[in-house]
Amino acid sequence: MGKTIIIGSDHGGFNLKQACIAALKDWGFDVRDMGPDCTDSCDYPIFAAKVAEAVKADHDLLGVLICGTGQGMSMTANRMGVRAALCTDEFTARMARGHNDARILCMGERVVGQGLALGILKAFLETGFEGDRHRRRIDLIDTVAE
Ligand code: RB5
Repeated sequence: MGKTIIIGSDHGGFNLKQACIAALKDWGFDVRDMGPDCTDSCDYPIFAAKVAEAVKADHDLLGVLICGTGQGMSMTANRMGVRAALCTDEFTARMARGHNDARILCMGERVVGQGLALGILKAFLETGFEGDRHRRRIDLIDTVAE
């Protein structure tokens, strides 16, 4: 997995996005910030779409999307055909990568504190997809949805 992370939020996730960007840079990642650049009210699907499109276009990329709850970001990215996992704990973040090959981590700034959020982010990024039977199962997601 590459070392570039695509990140976006809405106004409800802006402050946590900035904290994640700082941590990611500290950890040696290149970060592409798709916005917004302030806490003015904005619409989460716009930023979810920017991140989902970038991640969908390059298999080496992972993304992070943050809104107030993480729900709207998750709904939008999944609808766009990118596996996005809404996580509120580190175990779920590890499983989302290891078993579900999630490509986008979604979090809610109004749900998780900054310390926990950074732990979730680290767990997500340091876990690789296990493949094998999990590959068959994620392929089945597309089959059953057709
Ligand atoms: C914005 O108030 C809020 O609805 C948004 O950040 C997010 O929680 C939506 O899912």
